[in-house]
This record gives sequence, structure tokens and C-alpha cells, in this order.
Amino acid sequence: MAELTNLETKLGEVIGLAMAAQVAIDRISKLDPPPDLAKQMKQMRSEAAAAEKGGTDLAGTFDGKKSKILAEARTVKQKGGEMLKTYLDRDSDILDGMEFMTMAEAGEVGHWSVLGEMNKTARHAGVRELVKVQLPIQKRHLKDVSAASVQLAAKEDPNAEA
Ligand SMILES: [Fe+2]
Repeated sequence: MAELTNLETKLGEVIGLAMAAQVAIDRISKLDPPPDLAKQMKQMRSEAAAAEKGGTDLAGTFDGKKSKILAEARTVKQKGGEMLKTYLDRDSDILDGMEFMTMAEAGEVGHWSVLGEMNKTARHAGVRELVKVQLPIQKRHLKDVSAASVQLAAKEDPNAEA
């Protein structure tokens, strides 16, 4: 099978990050988020699932490349899972979880931006459409998890023992 182009590899990466986001949200949802944050995370999870589906559908339009793009996605998902395991331990609380999500969502914003930039030259209509939909959503995710971190931090006693 033909090797992936840089654009196709990037598409695999954003799909993998969307997969990893769902795994991270499932894990972090167990860290007792306040109800409004739990609700927000549920929506974020369904939007991550939609991003995975949109990316996967788009990958299917790349002739003969779909399975390689999805293999790339699974590799990224696995790396994301390892990062999650490294970052969170048994003592982690919801603030730690939101800090991890801030990194994860920043990663998604970064990768979708790169995919969009590469596509300025590649001019693939499907990629353009998907980036147009996903980049604002990922920026909103980043804003929301960052705001949630700060809100949780405001409730912590900085002088209490960790
Ligand atoms: Fe996201």
C-alpha cells in the first residue's frame, strides 16, 4: 500500500487525538467533577466522538489509504493513553484531570491548525470543511477546560497539604 502523505498523516493524528480525548474524558469523569462540569464533559465527549467520526468518514474518501490513516490514528490514541497514565495517578483529583485536559485540548487545537495550514496548499475540499467545523469546537474545548481548571483552583486552599 502507498505511503501516507503529510496531509493524510495529520488527518490520522487528529482522529487519534479525538479518540484519546474520549478515553481521557471517561477516566477524568470518575474524579468527582462538580455537576456543571460533568455535564460539560459529557458534551465534550460526544463532540470528540463526532470529531472521530467526521475524520474517519473523511479518511474513507482517500482512495486506498483509509486503513493506514486509521492505523496512524490508533498509534496516536495509544500514545495519548500512555500520557494520561503517566500524568494521572491514584491521588489525582479533578483539578489534575482538568490540567491534563488543558494539555490535550491544546494539542487538538494545534493539530487541527496544522492540518488546516497544510491544506492551504493541498486544497482538499473535505479537509477544508472538516477543519472549518472542528477548529472552533476544539478552541472552545480548550477555553472551557482551562476555565474549569482556574475555577477549581480558586476553591483550593493554597496552604493546605496536597
Ligand atoms: Fe477536544
